[in-house]
Amino acid sequence: MIAALRGPYLSYTANPFEDADSVCHRYEADGLIVIEDGIIVSAGAFDAALVPVGITPDHYPDGLIMPGFIDAHVHYPQMPMIAAHGRQLLEWLDHYVFPTELRYRDIDFARAVARRFLREELRAGVTTPITYCTVHPESVDAYFEEALQLGLRTGAGKVLMDRNAPDGLLDTAQSGYDASKRLAARWHGRDRLFYAVTPRFAPTSTEAQLYLAGTLLREGDGLYMQTHLAENRDELAWVQRLFPASRDYLDVYDRFGLVGPRCLFGHAIHLGDREWALLAEAGATVVHCPTSNLFLGSGLFNLKRALVSANPVRTALGSDLGAGTSFSPFATLAEAYKIAQLRGDVLTAHQAFYLATLGSARAIDQDRHIGSIEPGREADLVVLDPVATPLLADRQRYAESLEDTLFILMTMGDDRTVRATYVAGRKLHDRDDGRGM
Ligand code: GUN
Ligand code: ZN
Repeated sequence: MIAALRGPYLSYTANPFEDADSVCHRYEADGLIVIEDGIIVSAGAFDAALVPVGITPDHYPDGLIMPGFIDAHVHYPQMPMIAAHGRQLLEWLDHYVFPTELRYRDIDFARAVARRFLREELRAGVTTPITYCTVHPESVDAYFEEALQLGLRTGAGKVLMDRNAPDGLLDTAQSGYDASKRLAARWHGRDRLFYAVTPRFAPTSTEAQLYLAGTLLREGDGLYMQTHLAENRDELAWVQRLFPASRDYLDVYDRFGLVGPRCLFGHAIHLGDREWALLAEAGATVVHCPTSNLFLGSGLFNLKRALVSANPVRTALGSDLGAGTSFSPFATLAEAYKIAQLRGDVLTAHQAFYLATLGSARAIDQDRHIGSIEPGREADLVVLDPVATPLLADRQRYAESLEDTLFILMTMGDDRTVRATYVAGRKLHDRDDGRGM
């Protein structure tokens, strides 16, 4: 299968948290991207001689083509309770999350939500979500079945919880291990899918469960691990009571072999120096979830410590829906900017879009597949419309640079700003024809 896209495109080549913005990206004002069997085979300035015979490129002269966005921390089962009012993390889990997650023992319900969730991610321009499922193995099968049909590169895992949650949401250390092992064998490495061992967070797992989670991770070939870390102050105090022998929150995970490459820690707001240093040294990843952190009143993530530092920590971006309030990476970036502002730090537009694409791809160890527009990468692409609304069109008239255009996009963009989304070279969402998927 051969396809081609023509139009302005932007892709990052290096890290703008380390080098000047100007040397970290490639922008082609009239570009051509040629795709064969889902892989980019050439990308550069448009040249009619490079268009494959018999192919008419999808042409977006007024668009901006970028690599598909990555959402490295999200809970698909929480889609039905996004925007639940008035509580912070621990109460919010008890009152809204757990009752919703109980419904996923019904695989038909899980399938229906997974389908709507993936459609929303594509409408938002996200081509790689990494999601929590629920404790029910069916919730994982439902998700991966839908993702497989769409051909997505995506990760997911069965939540492990053997204490401090309602009965219908508990497994045991052994049953959680066995089910995860079966699911990983079924899904990990199939097509573009990968499996993440998923202990929800320290308070809902016994030491026995965390031990077996570490065992699973060691036994698997290239498995991921995802969990939550230091999101909320009451959570921190609870973890200290439950694990009095641990030096700090991260130590709870570290003692069980859960801190290393491909281990993704959501939030990581309230960390001490020792924890930051260990994350850096271990090559572990933190996932910044700004809309969630503001919505739950959790705190202000220290992006500067993570990335502008003598020993930086791999950092990805996440929506953390349903605590997060939007599928749109533009909303995530806008709130990341505001959190940096409240801390007295700077986030440039190039840094922001790097984080949503190549930066997250590197942080989750997928950059050999996704995150940039260059030969050999998979053709997961998003076509943005910088003038999608009357207000955007008005404001963009006064933009003086690519950086301006991007900053306006991330501050005011939403799903209307996503003109089309391609997965492995196939257009799966088209804003204007209503036939997307
Ligand atoms: N900590 C443990 N579980 C969750 C969850 O579902 N969402 C968030 N934001 N934090 C958590
Ligand atoms: Zn989360």
